[in-house]
Amino acid sequence: MTELAALAAIANGAGGLDLSCVKPIDGVDVAGKRVLVRADFNVPIEGGVVADATRISRVLPTIAQLAQAGAKVIVLAHLGRPKGVPTPETSVRPVAAKLQELMPDTVVRFIPTVIGEEAKRGTEALKPGEVAVLENLRYHTGEEKNDPEFAKALAALGDIYVNDAFSSAHRAHASVDAIADLLPAYAGLLMMAEITALGEALEKPERPVMAIVGGAKVSTKIEVLTNLVTRMDQLVVGGGMATTFLLAQGKEVGTSLCEPDFVATAKDIMALAERSSCEIVLPVDEVVAMKLEENAESWICPVDEVPADAMILDAGPASLANLTRRLSGVRTVLWNGPLGAFEVKPFGAGTLALAREIARLTREGKLISVAGGGDTVRALNVEGVSDDLTYVSTAGGAFLEWLGGHKLPAVLALARSGARAAAQ
Ligand code: 3PG
Ligand code: MG
Repeated sequence: MTELAALAAIANGAGGLDLSCVKPIDGVDVAGKRVLVRADFNVPIEGGVVADATRISRVLPTIAQLAQAGAKVIVLAHLGRPKGVPTPETSVRPVAAKLQELMPDTVVRFIPTVIGEEAKRGTEALKPGEVAVLENLRYHTGEEKNDPEFAKALAALGDIYVNDAFSSAHRAHASVDAIADLLPAYAGLLMMAEITALGEALEKPERPVMAIVGGAKVSTKIEVLTNLVTRMDQLVVGGGMATTFLLAQGKEVGTSLCEPDFVATAKDIMALAERSSCEIVLPVDEVVAMKLEENAESWICPVDEVPADAMILDAGPASLANLTRRLSGVRTVLWNGPLGAFEVKPFGAGTLALAREIARLTREGKLISVAGGGDTVRALNVEGVSDDLTYVSTAGGAFLEWLGGHKLPAVLALARSGARAAAQ
């Protein structure tokens, strides 16, 4: 076994990932040091400005804490998928401008390169307490290839490495994986919060625990569903993927989005759920229409009465009442994915009602709620209830991989670095 493999084995622990190996930044002396912070600045840019600053705000506490402690903070980030080719739409420059706006009392510089002379000079010129944001890491193909040479060039810019990009943790890329073997590596505040909240909800939740998984397709969430039925007391399947489960039960689903090729998979998941004493909860009624169109004429019908020429577009009132009743009987809920065609009015109504109900029960102290994923977070934001949940993840893909039971490469890299430091 190589040294890295041995450390990975320690960091992996006997069963699950041993998160106790991951070191937080608290208490680390960073004064006067060059601290590389990997952030997830993969945010929507419209007309050259940041259209949604949520991810920037969530990493701000780490950047601010380091700057206040006298570090020279150097932020590494990616935006979009430029695949080695710089384009105006994928520049990190607007994000640096937004960061400056969010921390008006701190000097925030933008350095238009990632490695090389200009990056070296720019970062060396930083004074303690100042922040530099480097250009898009993905302008170098070495980033996505996890190239050790590229990681070395990045590591040369800093003395300490902090990863605060949980939402990029499922990518084995140079700035989140290889680099953690080259510098003392720590988890930022957001990274710590994400892995703690998701770790607790999945590994040692207060029971009964329910997961609600929606979204279009079973095929994209097979691992998530499979892992969850072995861990949850109840699994609510919603959205388009529920249709495939209904089909597996021999129900008429009309012209609904569904995946007949995955009926066998749905049956396997139901059988595994039964063996694992996890109850799978499917819709009992639906909102159906003849077409998926804004304000299309729609009506409610029981799952057994979906006409052959209609399509299922949202959960019906009896399904929502069932969900509400069940939610009041559980202690923890994990939620990913909408219950209907969320983006087309009025078929987002079921998802929005669910967002309100989870928020209400959490506010009243009755529920521990953890949610993540693009549409799910949008639904919470539409209702203005994001802050009411126990934890809302900034991650999409990484959140799903975690729910699927995967060990995320960037989290493993931090654990490996921690195990190495402890062994010294
Ligand atoms: C995300 O937005 O989910 C992360 O930043 C990862 O981006 P990617 O899917 O392009 O790797
Ligand atoms: Mg993505």
